[in-house]
Formats: sequence, C-alpha cells, structure tokens
Amino acid sequence: MHLTGKFCNTEGVDTPAVKGADGLLGEVERAEAALRAAADRAGAGSFEAVIEADQKIEPRDVMPEDYRKGLIRQIAQHAHSEIIGMQPEGNWITRAPSLRRKAILLAKVQDEAGHGLYLYAAAETLGVTREELTEALLSGRQKYSSIFNYPTLTWADMGAIGWLVDGAAIVNQVPLCRCSYGPYARAMIRICKEESFHQRQGYQSLYVLANGSPEQRRMAQDAVNRWWYPSLAMFGPPDSESTHSAQSMAWKIKRFSNDELRQRFVDMCVPQADILGLTLPDPDLKWNEQRGHYDFTPPDFDELMRVVKGDGPCNRQRMAHRRRAHDEGAWVREAAAAYAAKGKTA
Ligand code: 3HC
Repeated sequence: MHLTGKFCNTEGVDTPAVKGADGLLGEVERAEAALRAAADRAGAGSFEAVIEADQKIEPRDVMPEDYRKGLIRQIAQHAHSEIIGMQPEGNWITRAPSLRRKAILLAKVQDEAGHGLYLYAAAETLGVTREELTEALLSGRQKYSSIFNYPTLTWADMGAIGWLVDGAAIVNQVPLCRCSYGPYARAMIRICKEESFHQRQGYQSLYVLANGSPEQRRMAQDAVNRWWYPSLAMFGPPDSESTHSAQSMAWKIKRFSNDELRQRFVDMCVPQADILGLTLPDPDLKWNEQRGHYDFTPPDFDELMRVVKGDGPCNRQRMAHRRRAHDEGAWVREAAAAYAAKGKTA
C-alpha cells in the first residue's frame, strides 16, 4: 500500500492520499524542464537529427508528410475526445448532490473544453483549420475516445470517471509531455496538471461514497464495476494489433506502447482500490512476483472496435448532441466573425 499522507475534505471524511496519477506530476515537471532546455538549444539540423537528439520539432521545421498527418490524426482525435468528453459528466451538473460538488464538476467540465481548445490550436499549427477539424468530427471521418460512449447512470459514475477515466488519461498523457512535436508537448504539460486535479477529485468523491451508507457503497462499487474494462480499453488495441505504435514510437510521439501503459495503469489502481475498500471486477487480478506486475484480464477488444466504429451504447446520442450544439452555435460563430471583421476595418 502506498500511503503518502492524508488530506481532509470539507465533508469530514479523511481521504488517504495515494501514490498514483498525481504522483506522476514529478514526471510532468521533468518534461517541462526538458522543454525549456530544448528551447535554449536552437537549430539542431535535420528532422532525423532533432528526433535523435530528443529535441522538439516546431511548426516551421521541415517534417515528413506522414509525421505531420499522423500528428494531426492523433491530436485531432484527442481534441475531439475532450470536447465529446464533456457530455457524460455534463449530464450530472444539474443533479450534483451539493453546491460544492456542482462547482467542482462545472470547473472540471470547463477544463475539458479548455483542453479541447489547446489541442485544436496545437493541431492548427500543422496546417489544418479548426473548421476542417470540426467537419471531420461531425462527418465521422475522425474519431474520439471509445470511453465517452458509455452512459453515466448514477452520481457515483462522476467519482469512477474521475478516478479511472482521468487516471487512465493521465497515465497515457504524461509521456506525451515528452512528445517530439513542441506544440503538442507544451499543451500536454498544462493538461496533465489539470487532469491530476480531476483524478484526485474523482477519487475523493468515490472515497466519500465508499465510506458512506450501504446504498452509497453499493453505488460506488457498481460504478467501478461498469467503468473498469472501458477504462482499460482506452489504451487502445493490444500492441500486436496497434497500427500506429511502431512508427509513432520511432518518431517519439508515443513513448510507451498501449500494453505498457495499460499495465502501468493496472499496477497503479490495485493499491488505490484497496484504500477505497472497493474491488476491481476481475477475479484473475493477482500480483505476479516474477513479472513484478499484476496479471489481469484484458478488456474485450472486439467490443472496443465495435465502439470505435460507432456501435457503442451512446455513440449516436453523443454525435447527435454535438451536431445539435454545433448548429445552435452557428449564430455565435457568425457574430464573433462579424465582430472580428469590424475590428479590422475600424
Ligand atoms: N478510442 C477510439 N479509438 C481508438 C482507441 C480508443 N480508445 N484506441 C485506439 N483507437 C484507434 C486509433 O485511433 C486507430 O485508429 P485510426 O487509425 O483510424 O486513427 C486504431 O484504433 C488503432 O490504434 P493504434 O494503437 O494504432 O492507435 P494509436 O497509436 O494512435 O494509439 C491512443 C491510440 C493510445 C489512444 C493514442 O492515439 C493516444 O495516446 N492519443 C492521445 C490521447 C488521447 O487521445 N486520449 C483520448 C482520451 S482523452 C481523455 O480521456 C480526456 C480526459 O479528460 C478524460
């Protein structure tokens, strides 16, 4: 068990602080220092030399077309995930059990919007427009994370999403702070710091429920049971079936494979679940002394592919909502464009 201290919440329940996603913040800070150092060493030469020297590729640098396209694909998918990811939690803002919980949830959902905007801005540095990216999402040409196609059935889902979904997002995204493309790496530093707060508030919320009435405890366990495997699936297909990993790792976009990160996440969650007093829904989860890792049952990858292709429990609802919001926001975009044009002529 990795207890690193305690913090007290205003609901009178002490939540033990655990080493976990927020423990990864040290890694974010090291990536931030490396970014500053890389900025001081200008002009490393060719694309290959920059990658080899672990420096950053910047928007005006020469880069292979496949590197540019691959980054647009990943950053756009990431941005769309943040934007669509506002829906499952937005569902609970009006029903949060207290003003404090409502304020926290509102702040969190607003953070996701902000993350989407940094990421769209990072993608734009690669020569695509925001309109093109939006159109690609709305037409279904670009994807978003599978996880946001699952329903949020009870208030405990807010805790389970914070703990597991944001926890998985951090494990996946902290290494992206060292991504070879400068604008993406810089966006990820801030995003990871904010995601760490998201994970922490989810864990705390779940801890309160797990230590509450029998009914609250049941609700917390049920939420963990439903979100565990979809969270494991967030890391993508197994390495043997991952189409982009090898090239992405050679270009230092990805630093670890899907399976490596999935394992890191499982190893992080097991002691955290112990502290919550909740179980993870995997009877085969056990410590493997030889490997120095937990053995676990992988998620259903056929289900992942079905969800990715549009056939998950909430895909249609999420896209219909996004299209409606886009249509209803047309007048805002037009007004903002007219205002900007007026500013130019004034
Ligand atoms: N959901 C949707 N699509 C997925 C997926 C998932 N969980 N996992 C993989 N895929 C897709 C890939 O995009 C790829 O499809 P494409 O060729 O049409 O683009 C295909 O499945 C094969 O997968 P690969 O392993 O080859 O793909 P990658 O090398 O790109 O790895 C990834 C997938 C690990 C998700 C990687 O793209 C990545 O790290 N992306 C950045 C992080 C990100 O987008 N996270 C999404 C969640 S954001 C979030 O959680 C917000 C937070 O607030 C909670």
